[in-house]
Amino acid sequence: MTHGDIHISPGLEALAMEGARIFIQVGQQAIAKDACFRVALSGGKTPQALYEALSLPPAKQHIRWDVVHFFFGDERCVPPDHQESNFRMANHTLFQPLNIPSEQIFRMEGELSDTDTAAVQYEQRIMNHFKASPPSIPRFHLIILGIGEDGHTASIFPQSPALEETHRLVVPSESPKGISQRMTFTLPLINQAEMILVLVSGQTKAPIMGHLFSRTDDTPSDVPAGLIRPVNGRLCWLLDQDSAKALC
Ligand code: 6PG
Repeated sequence: MTHGDIHISPGLEALAMEGARIFIQVGQQAIAKDACFRVALSGGKTPQALYEALSLPPAKQHIRWDVVHFFFGDERCVPPDHQESNFRMANHTLFQPLNIPSEQIFRMEGELSDTDTAAVQYEQRIMNHFKASPPSIPRFHLIILGIGEDGHTASIFPQSPALEETHRLVVPSESPKGISQRMTFTLPLINQAEMILVLVSGQTKAPIMGHLFSRTDDTPSDVPAGLIRPVNGRLCWLLDQDSAKALC
């Protein structure tokens, strides 16, 4: 099983700096090639340090933020000002500090009562933005992900229908912990990205990382994060030493 590139940082701050370096490198290449940078953000706690690093000098001075379009790889079905909202976290750590205009932010409307319709509408917004039509799958320049202790990524959880989805690009999902109702990118959309960056920190993630990277065959993984396999792109795992304990 090809695991992609693995970078182990001493701690979360160094992980965030390495993530910012990669974000800037991929962003500059995207802007040079396509005059824009389309990135899908992850939620959770780990990426906050990355977003904060990007919103401060020197990182903030290395990207033309006016051509960056921000999407979300998943969202909890709560209002955008809810403590658990991935949008709220990114808004506080990245969008507000950088004065990103709302036209450049494509928020998942998790607050809508009909999550399936919200997922269909978000998928359509992505297709419209990329000027794409089925069966083509939009290719993000960068998708940032995390991983849960159970091996979930985005809001694709073990044994969930989202794991089996091969046609839709955005679907409703349910989390066994925390805010149960979610919306998430599916693997076909994730694996189409030019670059997938997975941020992992903390010793609680060491077991799942050991499990993932102990697999040597190409049989389908038994955890969602093991199915992150870019079709024609790059995969980079950014770990801190605590989460990489089982790999060293
Ligand atoms: C979310 C994320 C989720 C997250 C992992 C890791 O909405 O929570 O998309 O997939 O990346 O649960 O979260 P931490 O970074 O908080 O450990």
